Amino acid sequence: FSEALVDSFHRKHDYLRISLTEKCNLRCFYCMPSEGVELSPQGNLLTNEEIIRLATLFVKSGVTKIRLTGGEPTVRKGIADIIAELNTLRQHGLRSIGMTTNGVALHRRLPQLIENGLTHLNLSLDTLDPFKFEIMTRRRGHEAVLKTLDVALASSLQSVKLNVVVMKGLNDHEVLDFVEMTKDREISTRFIEFMPFTGNQWDKAKMVPSSELLKTIAARHPDVVRAPDELNDTARSWKIPGYAGSFGFISSMSDHFCSTCNRLRLTADGQIKVCLFDAKELSLRDEMRRGASDDEILSTIGRAVFGKKEKHAGMEDIDVVTNRPMILIGGSSDVL
Ligand code: GTP
Ligand code: 5AD
Ligand code: SF4
Repeated sequence: FSEALVDSFHRKHDYLRISLTEKCNLRCFYCMPSEGVELSPQGNLLTNEEIIRLATLFVKSGVTKIRLTGGEPTVRKGIADIIAELNTLRQHGLRSIGMTTNGVALHRRLPQLIENGLTHLNLSLDTLDPFKFEIMTRRRGHEAVLKTLDVALASSLQSVKLNVVVMKGLNDHEVLDFVEMTKDREISTRFIEFMPFTGNQWDKAKMVPSSELLKTIAARHPDVVRAPDELNDTARSWKIPGYAGSFGFISSMSDHFCSTCNRLRLTADGQIKVCLFDAKELSLRDEMRRGASDDEILSTIGRAVFGKKEKHAGMEDIDVVTNRPMILIGGSSDVL
């Protein structure tokens, strides 16, 4: 494991999230500022070759897990080729290739992506009500997402997770319905606390703490039990005995998990971002384009990682002014 991926708090970073595009085919308001985002000129985005070069460097340095995000990753042309190329990095220790997607334009293409090496799928779906879906995403597509979910569940994927960002008064009353979905489907559904980002009108009053949701669920299902989590998992998982699937809570705001953080991010325009909530970034794209060697790039990665803070600033103090909106970090769900 390369020292470059170990930070000053001894956290080893073996999980890389790669954003493939800044665009999205939905416009979920919690991810995309209402005034839109200024997209980087095409030439500023990493090419497929640059992505693979950096991914190779990260994997050879110890990354075992890669997740493709966006914007909406399926919007990127050539995603099937990128997955196929990432798949060759298994020989250097890569163990999983995941994707976080809204699933709107995926059900037909999913089998091909799986054949090329995709192993884990996280689907963003915040509501089971088609009408509310349109309100939350400002687009149509609910039926298509459910189709993608069916295709995913019938496939050989190693895991299928549902991401539900819970917002007070909007979809919090659907939590029990989402739990029911885990009865005969082998999904792991994660209820996510609404997080503050530039332009997403975050308000503590709209955030539903996970503890509240658990209380609601336990009132209906007194036999609910804690389920095992994977190492470094963002979610704390629970299960109703006898149900095929499970559910969990991603409590980034009320109970952060920074001490076990193993994640690094590569933005679509080639910046390494060591924390979701830290605006400080370094450009690996510029390094590559000035002709830097792999060792030089690795030393820039090392500098960024070493500067990673112990934890985020807390929900009241997170910097939403200079940080990027979620769509430009690795949202998936939402926007163009
Ligand atoms: P797994 O690899 O399946 O555990 O996926 P994940 O939960 O890491 O990623 P996913 O893209 O599905 O994101 C689910 C939620 O977790 C989103 O709201 C993310 O913003 C949030 N999340 C992902 N990574 C981090 C992180 O490093 N820090 C914090 N605070 N939240 C994160
Ligand atoms: N708060 C919490 N989760 C968010 N996501 C996007 N924006 C936010 C936010 N403000 C989620 C998406 C997707 C995942 C990558 O991040 O729903 O599932
Ligand atoms: Fe890691 Fe930053 Fe998320 Fe904490 S807030 S878990 S340090 S990315």
